[in-house]
Amino acid sequence: MSTIKLKTEIPGPKSRALTERRAQAVPRGVYASAPLFIRHAENATLEDVDGNRIIDLAGGIGTNNVGNRNLRVLQALRTQLDAFLHLCFSVTGYEGYVELAERLNALTPGKFAKKTLLVNSGAEAVENAVKIARAHTGRPAVLCVEDAFHGRTMLGLTLTSKTQPYKQNFGPFLSDVYRIPFGVPADLRLRSRAPMSQEQVEELLDGVFRRVVSAESIAAVVVEPILGEGGFVVPPAGFLPALADICHRHGIVFIADEVQTGFGRTGELFGCTHFGIEPDLILTAKSLGGGMPLAAITGRAEIMDAPGPGGLGGTFGGNPASCAAALAVIEEFADGTLLARARSLGERFQQRAFSWQRQHAYIRDVRGVGAMQAIEFVQADGAPYAAAAKKLAQHCLRNGVLILTAGTYDNVIRLLMPLTISDEEFSEALDVIEGGLNAVATELDSQAIAAAH
Ligand SMILES: Cc1ncc(COP(=O)(O)O)c(C=O)c1O
Repeated sequence: MSTIKLKTEIPGPKSRALTERRAQAVPRGVYASAPLFIRHAENATLEDVDGNRIIDLAGGIGTNNVGNRNLRVLQALRTQLDAFLHLCFSVTGYEGYVELAERLNALTPGKFAKKTLLVNSGAEAVENAVKIARAHTGRPAVLCVEDAFHGRTMLGLTLTSKTQPYKQNFGPFLSDVYRIPFGVPADLRLRSRAPMSQEQVEELLDGVFRRVVSAESIAAVVVEPILGEGGFVVPPAGFLPALADICHRHGIVFIADEVQTGFGRTGELFGCTHFGIEPDLILTAKSLGGGMPLAAITGRAEIMDAPGPGGLGGTFGGNPASCAAALAVIEEFADGTLLARARSLGERFQQRAFSWQRQHAYIRDVRGVGAMQAIEFVQADGAPYAAAAKKLAQHCLRNGVLILTAGTYDNVIRLLMPLTISDEEFSEALDVIEGGLNAVATELDSQAIAAAH
């Protein structure tokens, strides 16, 4: 039985009316991927205010790995609501915060002693990680990579690469932040998938240390193991391990931003595991909270303890309900079934996507790890093809599938559906994508014919 049920065109009249109210009440800077308002969600199914049923491949930008309204999460929240709501961990303690810290200390890569700080958002995790690295090293500078995204606070934006729409008009940004290629320069990425040797990465960093900023001035490197907003870019094999090794030798704190790669998305709890690295600090958010706002900085105990008492915290960080939800999320992943599911969803997607690629020349790349999968579009001359990604996303929405674009050139579509999506729903959604790809191809053909006349 099909999940998608369309009662009106999309967006329907009620969504359109709410979009008008939104325009009056909410600043235009708050982006909306889809002009859609939702009244109910269950796992990977959304029901909009017009009664349309839609399959969700966006998962709240990767926050719903365990599904929307996951039963274990709901149960944990109900129990917590009956006990107490907010207290503020800086005023009085509660077990949930400590237990979650213990669990994250044990689950994150690396057998060394660790500690965890809880905050509210991915951007706040990035901010705090850099504060902690600076306090630990006594150094000012931070290295980040091309096409990175690290959030919308001032430091998050400074570390973020994409100018439009994220950075435009918001400067000046923070000083002492320097950007290096994500292994290979962005314009060469599609041409070569060759692994990088330790020597190549040494050479890259040596040049940076000589010409840009000395290693002795660098507190931290901040890097996503796989670029999220940047277009699901997987680094060349060898890049991250060599980078981590160089950091280690120079006393630079290696910070892995796993806000989007984390919590099961790639078929491992943490994306780093695929590259065999053990970051000094690891940042999780999004799906960690099972739909509740929560982020964590987990890392080597001696680094985490660098800031003095009172140097870290915040009113809502690690609020009791979010901690309860996160502990339930960890239980959901405990037996490995969901991780296996992430891998098999990725394989199923790739099978279909490679056949689409053989059919359509404008699909330049199919890539990803586990259920973190994307397709990149280019024009006949190889230039990024943002219009194709936009048209495809619009086609999908009109036909009952919510899917997000990504990439510095907006020419990528990406999958961030709940890992709990059923086989039938996933197939149904892939059929809609396939129809969209054919529709875009037909449009391209007719444009080419028109241009030739
Ligand atoms: C890798 C990465 N870091 C940081 C952030 C910022 O997280 P938040 O939106 O929770 O502040 C995001 C959000 O998309 C992200 O993908």
